[in-house]
Amino acid sequence: MTDADDRTDAYGPGGGGTLRSHHWYGTEGLRAFSHRARTRQLGYLPEEHLGKPVIAVLNTWSDINPCHQHLRERAEAVKRGVWQAGGFPLEFPVATLSETFQKPTPMLYRNLLSMETEEVLRSYPVDGAVLMGGCDKTTPALLMGAASADLPSVFVPAGPMLRGHWRGETLGSGTDMWRYWDDRRAGLIGDRELSELECGLARSPGTCMTMGTASTMTAAAEALGVTLPGASSIPAVDSGHARMAAAAGMRAVALVRSGAPLSRFLTREAFEDAVTTVCALGGSTNAVIHLLAMAGRAGVEFGLDDFDTLARRAPVLADVRPGGAHLMEDFHYAGGLPGLLARLGEAYLHLDRPTVAHRTLRAQLDGALVHDDGVIRPLNRPLAAEGGLAVLRGNLAPDGAVIKHIAAEPRLLSHTGPAVVFDDYRTMQERIDDPDLPVTPDSVLVLRGSGPLGGPGMPEYGMLPIPERLLKEGVRDMVRLSDARMSGTSYGACVLHIAPESHVGGPLALVRDGDPITLDVPSRTLRLDVAGAELARRRAAWRPPPARYGRGYGALYQDHITQADAGCDFAFLARPGEVPEPYAG
Ligand code: FES
Ligand code: MG
Repeated sequence: MTDADDRTDAYGPGGGGTLRSHHWYGTEGLRAFSHRARTRQLGYLPEEHLGKPVIAVLNTWSDINPCHQHLRERAEAVKRGVWQAGGFPLEFPVATLSETFQKPTPMLYRNLLSMETEEVLRSYPVDGAVLMGGCDKTTPALLMGAASADLPSVFVPAGPMLRGHWRGETLGSGTDMWRYWDDRRAGLIGDRELSELECGLARSPGTCMTMGTASTMTAAAEALGVTLPGASSIPAVDSGHARMAAAAGMRAVALVRSGAPLSRFLTREAFEDAVTTVCALGGSTNAVIHLLAMAGRAGVEFGLDDFDTLARRAPVLADVRPGGAHLMEDFHYAGGLPGLLARLGEAYLHLDRPTVAHRTLRAQLDGALVHDDGVIRPLNRPLAAEGGLAVLRGNLAPDGAVIKHIAAEPRLLSHTGPAVVFDDYRTMQERIDDPDLPVTPDSVLVLRGSGPLGGPGMPEYGMLPIPERLLKEGVRDMVRLSDARMSGTSYGACVLHIAPESHVGGPLALVRDGDPITLDVPSRTLRLDVAGAELARRRAAWRPPPARYGRGYGALYQDHITQADAGCDFAFLARPGEVPEPYAG
């Protein structure tokens, strides 16, 4: 990091006059006297903290998040780095979003963590921040809040878990769990095998080690330039992860000294590069919603159509499951994100923008190598020639929908078929395997009531199961539509994020069994082939469902959540406007 921007003129060494925290600790009045007295109560000497940049270490560790179980001790490495660089670290526990445990879905609470992040940074004597997260929604939540607070900040990705093992086989998060569960349903494996699999699927701290939402979003953070180089793929339990954490603590202090707020890095160019990176990784569709929300907080104009434009030109280079064959450990040993970004290079990225570690992305990628062309493909031998995402529009999705078309059977990408409609997830579960369900391989399965409000929280219901009767006939993919999201480890011809959702009266609410629906990915179209007059009749008869929450966080959520095309942020968090600094004197 020799070329980093380390100016120290933003505040005088030893004086600390312009540090934000100075207003808490350094002034003459009664309040500052009290803050100093309380810091003595914490056991610190004046010379340990006065005049030093205060770095908040925001930690999403908790006993119920297996992906973050190492972050409790890893925070000590971050603090070590802060001390070494002459800063004063303070660790703050923030809300826990544990992907596999939290109901109905942690997506309901992403904005809550983002609010907590912003307000912790604002209300305490903080000059800069290190954000520790990685499990799915924690990455966007921390970065959304930090973007709104706009202090100098570095993101520390939790890092992927080690690859799974069972009886000589390598196992990947999500994908292999579903595969073996199907074998269990088919009676192919017994109790003993199942309990062995329980121990082999996830065998170390860290985030899911496929290219699911966690790895997609931490890679996006690295591509945005807000992590240290290579940080996003270091396995959680590798000693390199502790060294990266210490370096991030040091870096946060340097960013405070040079006066570099997060907004310096979160530019339009950075978001374009993040989208290109997500596509080159064959990453999760959830990235669309999160990056839209993050761009909104950063004040960057960015829309669904920008995703489509960028996805049309970005080649898929990472051969990582679920789209490819390998796991995150392999990706790391092959060169990690620096290797992949170096391959994308000038042709696809903006190399002259700054990152938290270097004056330019170009300097950051200098010397980055790929060590295994089978895991990170060369540009002339991509896994797919264009990015894994397409944005669809039409009378069924006036505000857009998303499909990861590389994960679908190609014959379904231009398809017309009759709708089989399910009003909500429970009804779908009850009816999908009914032998009398009027469904053929050409049918279009439609799930509604699963959007930001209808779900609520837009659960990952989007990979609707293939009806058992058709499975037995060998059918493995069908066109499926919903206003839900889909897990990053899922696959199939699944049209997701249909906006507006059915719950608020989007056209999805008007579909009836048997209506012809056309999906045409080449022309980016999703159409309900029903006459306008008939749709108008149905709309006149449609009644909005009653509000679900009478009070509490759910009521706040339902009053303010935006639709998928706006990133599902709360409208009052996404809108521009000033928030005054608290009076600390
Ligand atoms: Fe935490 Fe997958 S469950 S990253
Ligand atoms: Mg997931």
